Amino acid sequence: MCGIFGIIGSKRNELGGILLKGIKRLEYRGYDSVGMAALDNGAIDVKKAAGKVDEVNKQLNFPKLIGNAGLAHSRWATCGGVTDNNAHPHQSCDKMITIVHNGIIDNFEELKQDLVKKGHKFSSETDSEVIAHYFEEKLASKSMREICVDFLREIKGTFAVLILKKDEDRIYALRRDSPLVLGICNDKNILASDIYAFSDLTNKAIFFENDEFAIVEKEKYGFFNKEGKEILKTIQEFKWEQEESEKKKYKHYMIKEIKEEPAVVKRLLFSLKTEQKDHFKKFIDLIKKSKKIVFTAAGTSYHASLLGVYYLHKCGIEAQTLIASEFRHFASVDKDTLVIAITQSGETMDVIDALKYVKEKDGKIASIVNVPYSTIQRMSKISLNILAGQEICVAATKSFVNQVTLLLAIAKEFGFKINLDNLPERIYGMLKSEEKISKLAKEIHRKRDIYVLGRGLSYPVAREVALKIKEISYIHAEGMMGGELKHGTIALIEDGTPVISLISNKDYDMLSNTKEVEARGARIIKITNEFDGDIKINTSNDGKFGILAAIFGQLLTYYIALEKGLPIDKPRNLAKSVTVK
Ligand code: G6P
Repeated sequence: MCGIFGIIGSKRNELGGILLKGIKRLEYRGYDSVGMAALDNGAIDVKKAAGKVDEVNKQLNFPKLIGNAGLAHSRWATCGGVTDNNAHPHQSCDKMITIVHNGIIDNFEELKQDLVKKGHKFSSETDSEVIAHYFEEKLASKSMREICVDFLREIKGTFAVLILKKDEDRIYALRRDSPLVLGICNDKNILASDIYAFSDLTNKAIFFENDEFAIVEKEKYGFFNKEGKEILKTIQEFKWEQEESEKKKYKHYMIKEIKEEPAVVKRLLFSLKTEQKDHFKKFIDLIKKSKKIVFTAAGTSYHASLLGVYYLHKCGIEAQTLIASEFRHFASVDKDTLVIAITQSGETMDVIDALKYVKEKDGKIASIVNVPYSTIQRMSKISLNILAGQEICVAATKSFVNQVTLLLAIAKEFGFKINLDNLPERIYGMLKSEEKISKLAKEIHRKRDIYVLGRGLSYPVAREVALKIKEISYIHAEGMMGGELKHGTIALIEDGTPVISLISNKDYDMLSNTKEVEARGARIIKITNEFDGDIKINTSNDGKFGILAAIFGQLLTYYIALEKGLPIDKPRNLAKSVTVK
């Protein structure tokens, strides 16, 4: 949450343009407000306002910013409302220090009280502003480098911070838990929340580890540990596929990304037989060697993990999954436990926290990740890439499909019966139901509540479909086990309430649950491969049914949101990468 970007060594007139491009690429991390700071001949110009990057840019014209160094920030509000004042960058009273921050400063109240007593005036409600005043206060007696060491010792919480000091041509960068990476170019250096932000400018990067800081100049940089001792870091060369980031003919990234599903599944399956073949084998061996398999994930990725558990159980492998934010409270991990994290971004803070717990308990970590070089990939003993390509829409679509495809490929190694080769074709067939689904969307788009029922493999899918409906089409939706309905939720069924029923094969229990709500007046939407229904799923395989039914849900959600005129790719209050707990 929150994207941060900084550059040192840009040509004077190019600064604003580079900052704008960089922060647009990080906007998926939050879009409540945006702001920039430009350092030009010892003067700092700050422009910032609440709103999405394009809206604010129209108002403030960021490319007009000139200078040789600058900072940019896109915000997902945590502490303090969505206002112009709370937008970053924040500055110290004397404007000597300018900062952008991603994370949460846990002890900011104490620090702020102390600084206010010393005469500092705050102009925002954020925790982040305290950082600027903290540096300003200490500057009277210490160097910036010494203050960085104090900061790492005294500040509680999580942070990726970039700091400009008015009279210095350098950026100070500090990291704990929130992602931060240095991009090295010949004549300039860049700091950002991820490598995508600068992947058009360089393919050389250095990742910050926790409690490290760096002092970055135009053509040189130094990294330091928390004691302030200089450390050597390794430069990583990376490859980044950019061809997919354009929206092209589509109105929204969401529909573009749904339409890419057959192609990305094909790419993943191919890579498992080619460049990821050895890794895949090692991953399978690790599962075989481990006494206990526990998945952990958040959001949509959690639903993929539930399917993973289902598929593994079908072939006799004992596995379980736990929501990452509750992992510490409900998991028991020892050295024989393999924890498999599933995450699109590879940066979700709850998942990182769960994995820290696994490390404390000496468990093993594997991961299934979409964003390469991400923190979770780097924390893992072994990691597989789902190769869904960049996903811009906040709602996960193609990444979910590829997570599940990879889980099916794993289960197949343990005996799960499935022919994955025709999966892209089956998905393509499902996408052809688009028109039918859009009519359905027109019919139900004004409803207040939608219930989605599933059993066995279709239960995780029911939850995923409901999540999509909530986050993108702003309709209250509940995805639940068909069997649980009669234990409470059925009380909410009224005449005409839409109930989507996912019935795989001859699941007569699911059929009975469907009839139970139909008898109470619900508008049943039957998604089935066996019985008569509203949408026919063309597969008799349980594995493929899960994927195809989820795609039905993605399309339904898209068309409901379209009908309602909602901001589909950037739904309110959400962010694609959730890097706070
Ligand atoms: C956020 C996103 C979801 C995503 C979840 C987990 O809530 O909006 O789309 O499913 O985080 O993210 P991850 O990157 O770990 O899969």
